[in-house]
Amino acid sequence: MTGLAFSFDLGSTFAAVFGTDPTGTWAAPGRVNLIGEHTDYNDGFVLPIALPQTVRVTARRRTDGRLRLFSTQGDGGVVELSVTELAPGQVAGWARYPASAVWALRAAGHHVGGADLHVDSDVPTGAGLSSSAALTAATALACHDLYELSIPRAELARIVQRAENEFVGVPCGIMDQIASLCCTEGHALHLDTRDLTQHQIPFDPAAQGLRLLVVDTGVKHDLGDGAYAELRAGCERAATLLGLPALRDLRPDGLAAALVLLPDELRPLVRHVVSENERVRLAVKLLPAGRLEALGAVLTAGHASLRDDFRVSCPETDLVVDTAAVAGARGARMTGGGFGGSVIVLVDEPDVEQVSAAIAEAFGRAGYAEPRIFPALPAAGAHRLC
Ligand code: GLA
Repeated sequence: MTGLAFSFDLGSTFAAVFGTDPTGTWAAPGRVNLIGEHTDYNDGFVLPIALPQTVRVTARRRTDGRLRLFSTQGDGGVVELSVTELAPGQVAGWARYPASAVWALRAAGHHVGGADLHVDSDVPTGAGLSSSAALTAATALACHDLYELSIPRAELARIVQRAENEFVGVPCGIMDQIASLCCTEGHALHLDTRDLTQHQIPFDPAAQGLRLLVVDTGVKHDLGDGAYAELRAGCERAATLLGLPALRDLRPDGLAAALVLLPDELRPLVRHVVSENERVRLAVKLLPAGRLEALGAVLTAGHASLRDDFRVSCPETDLVVDTAAVAGARGARMTGGGFGGSVIVLVDEPDVEQVSAAIAEAFGRAGYAEPRIFPALPAAGAHRLC
């Protein structure tokens, strides 16, 4: 899927492909995380917003146990599978995400038979904006409603996470799935990833004369490539060595004493996770106090920690952050897993053009392809469209 083409004639495409009318269309958004990166698999805190860009799944039940999948952004073919034969590692390409949702719902004991599904998306792929979680979540919600299940949203998110962990084989945390399924319009979602406690925090940069921009560097990130799994394993090893259930249980006042107990290579990982959880705590105090301008410094400090301690930034994301700062932005940081992907930039409304132009120029000078820049407006979580 390119994620860029977007078709609004969902019902007519469905009828043309599957020869029957759909029951409905479900949408699930991509996300950006304001702060709290690489904290979710450490039982820590995150603060994402949903984006207006969504994956839409138009669907109808089938009674013969067949799962037929078509994507507007695919190669024009229909992928046909049997729900009883779905197994981890056996489906390739984009179809493994919707297939994983059906597999995980069934593995959790829910009755989901066959379905015809048409997928359409305007969430950029490989941009660190959670296009895969959005696709899996949209499919899970469509099947949930088609099969009249009544699974609470947080539990549905756990099922979608299991789909990605076990069926697709990506050892991601829970942030993206919760963001896509549980965010609400006009809010950032403060999530405790240990017990999934959620607080919706009003987030309206425009009301304070600010804009949050997404800069998609065009550097494709791929969580399946092993680096993410290594970082996660490093964090888990550090927690074990410290005798803690997870790094979330290490507070800043215990950090110095903990670091001396750890091998050199694990220290920066631990430093990042502990300081990043503190940045989330700070951000959730600033947002309700209307101190959004102060959020900028928190973002930039988060980026420095991801660059220097966690080491998941890259020259392109660093260039966006540095250029934005010089051009007058309030703050900026890479968002998502890293190794490329997108940067969020908090900027005063009158400076949007100048900051965007400076980033584009810096990319040109460095010989990088022009980045895509668009506003991040806090949008609704997954829902039925029609
Ligand atoms: C990816 C994963 C998330 C989270 C982020 C980093 O987006 O899917 O679970 O770990 O990276 O914060």
